[in-house]
Amino acid sequence: MDDLVDDLRQRRDTVMLGGGEKRLEKQRDQGKMTARERVDNLVDDASFEEFGIFAEHRQTQFGLGGRVIPADGVVTGAASIDGRLVHLASQDFTVLGGSAGEVHSLKVADAMKRSLKTGSPFVFLNDSGGARVQEGIDSLSGYGQVFRSNVLLSGAVPQISLICGPCAGGAAYSPALTDFVIQTRKAQMFITGPQVIKQVTGEEITAEQLGGADSHMIHSGVVHFVARDDADALHICRRLLSFLPSNNLEDAPIVPCDDNLEPNPELNNIVPVDHKAGYDIRAVIAEVVDRKDFLEVQAGHATNMVVGFARILGRTVGIIANQPMVLAGAIDNHAANKASRFIRFCNAFNIPLVTMVDVPGYLPGVEQEYNGIIRNGAKLLFAYSAATVPMVQLILRKSYGGAHVAMCSRDIGADAVFAWPTAEVAVMGAEGAVEIVFRKEMAEAEDPVARRAELIAEYREAFASPYVAAGRRLVDDVIEPADTRKHIARALEYLRNKRDQRPPKKHGLIPL
Ligand code: HXC
Repeated sequence: MDDLVDDLRQRRDTVMLGGGEKRLEKQRDQGKMTARERVDNLVDDASFEEFGIFAEHRQTQFGLGGRVIPADGVVTGAASIDGRLVHLASQDFTVLGGSAGEVHSLKVADAMKRSLKTGSPFVFLNDSGGARVQEGIDSLSGYGQVFRSNVLLSGAVPQISLICGPCAGGAAYSPALTDFVIQTRKAQMFITGPQVIKQVTGEEITAEQLGGADSHMIHSGVVHFVARDDADALHICRRLLSFLPSNNLEDAPIVPCDDNLEPNPELNNIVPVDHKAGYDIRAVIAEVVDRKDFLEVQAGHATNMVVGFARILGRTVGIIANQPMVLAGAIDNHAANKASRFIRFCNAFNIPLVTMVDVPGYLPGVEQEYNGIIRNGAKLLFAYSAATVPMVQLILRKSYGGAHVAMCSRDIGADAVFAWPTAEVAVMGAEGAVEIVFRKEMAEAEDPVARRAELIAEYREAFASPYVAAGRRLVDDVIEPADTRKHIARALEYLRNKRDQRPPKKHGLIPL
């Protein structure tokens, strides 16, 4: 037995060295952790149980015949994070560039299936040159297994991707199928790299400009969090998981909080009464949620819409809010997509929604129309209407037109609607309304400027207040800003056992 155990230990030690000391050092010299260091730093101490450590490829061609590829370039297994079970896969760039061969991908897909069977989140740490070229279509087949598994897990257990190194070609599609993507500043992600782009289109671009973390946050919206480095990415991943349930049949963990529901006078002073003045909606969010703790998702993308996780009385909520500081909070294509996706994630995982409204409307413009603001704006209507979790709408100031409905109005599904005295719920702003209805009359008036001001004031009096909407039962209560947290907390408490049945069907058809 001693000899056998020695042999086992030697084999295990060889696998632990991945692509060998030299390559591991190279990885560290680049300021990156190795695949195993990432796992160790992500999970609770000594909780990692590895699967498939001795898995081997079965290729014989193109230099792979008889070649040992430790763990086939990916570390997979189960562990706990903050005491809760997760399954994970961590690609080892020191082993053939973390390239995904058949067995590599089957190991990843196996970890995902265990996630599904055990109702535990799946975390995929990516660092890979893509399909393992030497394995030809077997590697494509492996990717197919991973992609399909991503879809089977979607909406059943949370899936988080960390992009810690190259993520090229097919490698980029598994992250794109997961719920959240965290990319480090040392990583690049693209379907076709700079060289291919130059050959095909003649465009010249660096890998960083093309697929760096900022590019994917600002332009493509593929990334949800940008991390400084591996350590930061692992921290964000743990923090994100702390807000999420392990699966769609559970509630998120409750984090006790001493914050009370007493009036908060700060809230009376954050929002300017002048409806044209900007302010940072995140200041309002901070005053309403537990410990001012807000995990903003896609903080650098479509910044006219703010989404993210927080807690109220210890329970996770998803917050969706217009950002009056950017484009006056108007909803454009990117903002509609960002919010819709977030709403659908929360709904899938039983996370109640709190929507804060200060919106002048959908953003007008040729570019917006050509890029599909009708289709993308409709996604927002679809996402809220299809959601069955408790939903609270808070109207702070402007709530105009289609955007009023799209930001979770009573008619689209809000269970509780609160408005501040500054709220203006109307079909459109007063200035626009008088132009449409009274253009002729104003032109013919003796003093057009004075008449215009008079009509605007009349319109405001008649329509632009919370009381008209409250009179129509579209607002449940007009509240003092200072009491906002109390009202939202109570509404969520009373809605906790909400049940909302929908007709059976295969699935609805969100306008993609
Ligand atoms: C096999 C690969 C590989 C791959 C890298 N390696 N990518 N082996 N298949 N796809 C190996 C290298 O041969 C090298 O082996 C080691 O990994 C490290 O690679 P380097 O090039 O030395 O590292 P670096 O300079 O850091 O460059 C990293 C890289 C580059 C940018 C990722 O390797 C690269 O461009 N790789 C190819 C990327 C790509 O085009 N992928 C798309 C594949 S097709 P040694 O033995 O020297 O250490 C695809 C389609 C799938 O993915 C579609 C599915 C639907």
